[in-house]
Amino acid sequence: MEYRNVQVLDHPLIKHKLTLLRNKNTTHKDFRQLAQELAGLMTYEVCRNMRTKSCPVETPLETYEGQELENEVTIVPVLRAGLVMAQGMLDMIPHAKVGHIGLFRDETTLSPIQYYCKLPDSMPGSDVFVVDPMLATGGSASMAISLVKERHPASVSFCCIIAAPEGIRVLEREHPDVKVVTLEIDRQLNENGYILPGLGDAGDRIYGTK
Ligand code: PRP
Ligand code: URA
Repeated sequence: MEYRNVQVLDHPLIKHKLTLLRNKNTTHKDFRQLAQELAGLMTYEVCRNMRTKSCPVETPLETYEGQELENEVTIVPVLRAGLVMAQGMLDMIPHAKVGHIGLFRDETTLSPIQYYCKLPDSMPGSDVFVVDPMLATGGSASMAISLVKERHPASVSFCCIIAAPEGIRVLEREHPDVKVVTLEIDRQLNENGYILPGLGDAGDRIYGTK
């Protein structure tokens, strides 16, 4: 199925690491490492269309007409699971700012509940990447993006590892201006709001809490 504003990254190394990530026998230590590496690989693609500006530097021999990123970059992990993705992106963009949004899903309603939000005060010149491994019903991503938009960034992208069609449709409806970048689109949600085939509960698998 075609989605208007979704990019699925198709790369053999990503497929290999994502298969390891999905395996229920992968330890939380390896899971954490793989999620971080996948976010690092993803960073190349999500930065592809960033604007650059002229930045002349002196090499030891002459002036070189270089380039630097025009906008500030802000990475916004959705706690808990987004933290490892943020680290993978920071490995590639170490000068980025980081905002944090804490959300968890109510187990019955599946609606997100906010418990924390600390973002840069204003972000007019910032390209923002909201990161969370799982886009399931889309409630958490939509709420996180709304909080970010209150600070008026230059652009917002949502980066995840696995997206469900249900969550993509919610973001297309509620945030049509936000690009969604994912590594794979899975089949559907189950009756408890878990992605199928998915990888289980990302936060629990990262931190070994279940
Ligand atoms: C998971 C995941 C997302 C959310 C996705 O977090 O990391 O934030 O669920 O589901 P949704 O698209 O239906 O909103 P969870 O609520 O389990 O919190 P946790 O990271 O603290 O475990
Ligand atoms: N959150 C997760 O961590 N996993 C899912 O499959 C859905 C929501």
